[in-house]
Amino acid sequence: IKKIAVLTSGGDAPGMNAAIRATVRTGFYYNLEMYGVYRGYEGMIQNDIKKLESKHISHILERGGTFLKSARSQDFRTTEGRKKAYENLVQHGIDALVVIGGDGSLTGAHLFYKEFGIPAIGIPGTIDNDLAGTDLTVGFDTACNTAIEAIDKIRDTATSHDRLFFVEVMGRDAGFIAINAGIGSAAAATLIPEKKMPIERLVERLKARTKAKKQSNIVIVAEGGKSGGAAEIADKIKKQLPYYDIKVTILGHLQRGGAPSSLDRVLASKLGVAAVEGLLQGKYDVMAGIINNKVVYTPIAKAIVGDKEVDEDDFRVVKILST
Ligand code: F6P
Repeated sequence: IKKIAVLTSGGDAPGMNAAIRATVRTGFYYNLEMYGVYRGYEGMIQNDIKKLESKHISHILERGGTFLKSARSQDFRTTEGRKKAYENLVQHGIDALVVIGGDGSLTGAHLFYKEFGIPAIGIPGTIDNDLAGTDLTVGFDTACNTAIEAIDKIRDTATSHDRLFFVEVMGRDAGFIAINAGIGSAAAATLIPEKKMPIERLVERLKARTKAKKQSNIVIVAEGGKSGGAAEIADKIKKQLPYYDIKVTILGHLQRGGAPSSLDRVLASKLGVAAVEGLLQGKYDVMAGIINNKVVYTPIAKAIVGDKEVDEDDFRVVKILST
């Protein structure tokens, strides 16, 4: 392997820049030529590929977003799209790929490797933390910090006005951010996609808290929650507990931005090194992750299957602490 291209794809995540920097620096360390593909797979199809030099990656570690930009490419889902992308890589003489992204992006890398045999390795980059083969994904810690900081502020106004707030956090199919935000912000209840909480139980919990004269009530709802989004649940609760002054806040894309936390910077940096070294050791079609503080390489097909679940113990902690 002499020329490696790196790209970021799908929803951006804080720490992606740190992962790009570490990948490129490691490439330079091993005397490789490094390329950046702009706008993910879309840029690969449109030949938006540039050779990277040291100056491109200076002072990016601490910045949120991804300087390579990101996209959710529809064309890369087609065989013609992937063929065009392959031809562009060949034209640049690129012989390996580092893909930083979530499950959709890694699925793309897996397919591409199977079809064209271009050695590819993944770095888990998503705030959702929903990839197996790593304890944490790049961006998750920062997103949790952002959510908790925002919820702290919401609590101030909730307490002043004796209001009940429903705060929706991201996590399309996964409750990892919600669980952490719930534990870290002393939520009255946390609703996640993996577990259905009957509205009646939530009503009982809130009634009990009113009786206990709790000063404020924050309910965290993961966007993909089985009982509906925050607004939907707030509506149902309003009907049953009309005496509550209820407000809804959707944190949304706020959670995707911001400077990466120290944890995300270190994780992204370690994984950038691991990705390039993995490729040089012939580890293809795998994702570099960290489990129990050790680098592990997991076949992409296994990392994306979605069997990483919110820990039952975490769920128990939420339950104990919010009762
Ligand atoms: O990055 C993952 C994620 O944040 C999901 O939790 C969310 O549903 C999705 O991305 C939204 O992304 P976009 O609005 O950019 O398509």
